[in-house]
Amino acid sequence: MKKVSLLAPGPTPVPPRTLLAMAQPLIHHRSADFQEVIGKVRAGLKKLFQTQNEVLTFCSSGTGAMESSVANLLSPGDKAITVSGGKFGERWALILKAYGCTPVEILVPWGQAVNPADVAKLLKDDPSIKAVYVQALETSTGVDHPIEELAQVTKNTGAVLVVDAVSALGAYPIPVDQWGLDVVLSGSQKALMLPPGLAFASIGPKALEMMKTSKCPKFYFSWAKELKSQGENKGAFTSPVTLFMGLLDIFAMLDEWGMDKVYAETVIRSKAFKAAVKAWGLDLYSKQRPSVALTAVQCPENIDGQKVVKWLKDKYGIFIAGGQDQAKGKIFRVAHMGYINEFDTLQAISAIEMALKGLGYAFEMGSGVAAAQKIFGEN
Ligand SMILES: Cc1ncc(COP(=O)(O)O)c(C=O)c1O
Repeated sequence: MKKVSLLAPGPTPVPPRTLLAMAQPLIHHRSADFQEVIGKVRAGLKKLFQTQNEVLTFCSSGTGAMESSVANLLSPGDKAITVSGGKFGERWALILKAYGCTPVEILVPWGQAVNPADVAKLLKDDPSIKAVYVQALETSTGVDHPIEELAQVTKNTGAVLVVDAVSALGAYPIPVDQWGLDVVLSGSQKALMLPPGLAFASIGPKALEMMKTSKCPKFYFSWAKELKSQGENKGAFTSPVTLFMGLLDIFAMLDEWGMDKVYAETVIRSKAFKAAVKAWGLDLYSKQRPSVALTAVQCPENIDGQKVVKWLKDKYGIFIAGGQDQAKGKIFRVAHMGYINEFDTLQAISAIEMALKGLGYAFEMGSGVAAAQKIFGEN
């Protein structure tokens, strides 16, 4: 069996010490011991999100948190802006429609970031719009949307800003209170280095007010119910005890490392990888605001991106990601977030060089590795 390396933008590798923390005998989810765990997790989440808001935890993947932000804020017939600049942005409109709400879609070309002025104009023209739904990092294109600027736009309107930071939180700073982000969502399986299965929602005062008038149906994802339970260090339902144990260990590890260092190292891996892309004579797919959390590479004309992904998986056991929908076959994506180091990044670069060469792309073998080594050597 091949050793597997996870270098796709989720799920990312889980640190061995965290795997061991999750291997402890189960404790009961209604015990005093577990209440203490929930209390520590709540404090750790507030620190990570840099907020005084309550940050709810759900037993679901990230999409559950996205869905909860529609179900708990809106009523059927409500209008909300959705930023459709990739696969995950498009998901907002699908969720809104499933709840009988009306998406006002801003169609951002894939690879580009939303212009806050477009959001401001829509909100000015139609003050009945209740919310703006956007990604911090649109994982399918590798683009960061300008969420700090968007918060400035929504601040003095009746609309709440809902930010999907599933792939961004923990990869770079998102100071929720400083930027005034009403709702911020995330998940466990990316920069938080855990298995999939936990989703998070930070809920600010403006969103709490809007929640009171929401008439969309909700049960499992009821924020009101969870705010009450989790406020008392309890889960409304059976909590995923093992994942909570893992999350406590991740918080301990992040404390030991220091978030500044975590963020700085992510930037260096991103710089090194992007230098390799340039050395190969290739371009980023992200034409504006390329993220540090991952790199989306535009494939050469004659190379199918899916074949690069398959080459790495089949020959070397290395998992990177391809493109989705309109980007399928045209790109491949490599993560820089989470429990990976310089040599994981160099490994990916080296493997991609072998794949590109094997698939017939003409370039100088080793040029990407050398460019990345230079960056790592200097930092
Ligand atoms: C930005 C973003 N939002 C939402 C999701 C969906 O999360 P999940 O697959 O955990 O439901 C992902 C997953 O890749 C993502 O990257």
